[in-house]
Amino acid sequence: MAQQHVLITGGAGFVGSHLAERLLDRGSAVTILDDLSTGNYANIAHLEGHENVRLLIDTVFNEHLMEDLIRSHDRVFHLASAVGVKLIIEQPVKTIQTIVGGTEIVLRYCSRYRKPVLITSTSEVYGKGTHIPFREDDDVVTGPTSRHRWAYACSKALDEFLALAHWRETRLPVAIVRMFNTVGPRQTGKYGMVVPRFVQAALRNEPIEIHGDGRQSRCFAHVSDVTAALVTILDTPACFGKVINVGSDEEVTIRDLAERVVEITGSRSELRFVPYSDVYGDGFEDMQRRVPCIERLQELTGHRMTRSLDTIIRDVAESCRHRT
Ligand SMILES: NC(=O)c1ccc[n+]([C@@H]2O[C@H](COP(=O)([O-])OP(=O)(O)OC[C@H]3O[C@@H](n4cnc5c(N)ncnc54)[C@H](O)[C@@H]3O)[C@@H](O)[C@H]2O)c1
Repeated sequence: MAQQHVLITGGAGFVGSHLAERLLDRGSAVTILDDLSTGNYANIAHLEGHENVRLLIDTVFNEHLMEDLIRSHDRVFHLASAVGVKLIIEQPVKTIQTIVGGTEIVLRYCSRYRKPVLITSTSEVYGKGTHIPFREDDDVVTGPTSRHRWAYACSKALDEFLALAHWRETRLPVAIVRMFNTVGPRQTGKYGMVVPRFVQAALRNEPIEIHGDGRQSRCFAHVSDVTAALVTILDTPACFGKVINVGSDEEVTIRDLAERVVEITGSRSELRFVPYSDVYGDGFEDMQRRVPCIERLQELTGHRMTRSLDTIIRDVAESCRHRT
């Protein structure tokens, strides 16, 4: 079989760098495009010089480059995005522009050159949905536009609409993945990602800050399981024109998560509860539960998550120890 040439936008990010490794392992040639706005060169430093890797520090807003790249690659994984609730609140204009504008460019050229593309959306799109587990065709309910927090969900939802519109009008082979919390080595705590933040505090025996009362729950998938799902989805034509949840359905409260982190790392950290308003300002809204229904993923691809939360915590701790 001829070697596949794959473009990953946001390839120096947390998920993108793991995805690049997975694609290289199966013999693809990988081009990583990243402006390093939230990504980190250290994530991909070990790949530079690899015979099948091309690294471009540039932006998806460089349209000439994007056109050239998409024309000359076989498929595209679009991961470049403003990411993380904290960033979204601090830089609302950039968030909307990056998510909506960047995806518009990628879809436009993938449509022109008929290239299969995977768009990464987010469980945030479910907004304030309370019908658990979240199914892809559920109604979405978000808050008012005066609360910047919802800009992330609405921008990603617009990406989904645009991708589905390309599928409907011209049968662009596009798959849309709603990713739930994905965790693993290399993710930083800088953007409010809860597991690395807890693990870093635990390793330093510093207080672990829990936002709110800790009774809110989440599901965490290992990045390795998630990148396997992304690759399989783009390999499966039945996934085109569909929105697909990708995540774990093992639910844990944030308080229990903190306790498990303390236990697994052998830490002396205490748990400290901090009101949301102290962290994100007044009027911040968080969801109590976020659990994916993963039937569609399983039916279309047969994919299953294989790594438990304890494995995830151990892997993140191991990677944090190496970084410090
Ligand atoms: N990690 C999660 O739990 C999670 C959950 C839901 C959705 N997602 C989605 O998955 C994708 C990857 O997320 P991640 O966790 O790896 O985050 P990340 O911040 O590590 O990766 C995003 C990457 O995009 C790059 N980027 C941003 N703007 C760019 C631009 N204009 N041009 C080129 N590169 C640009 C950043 O530098 C970064 O490397 C994103 O679309 C995100 O919304 C992630």
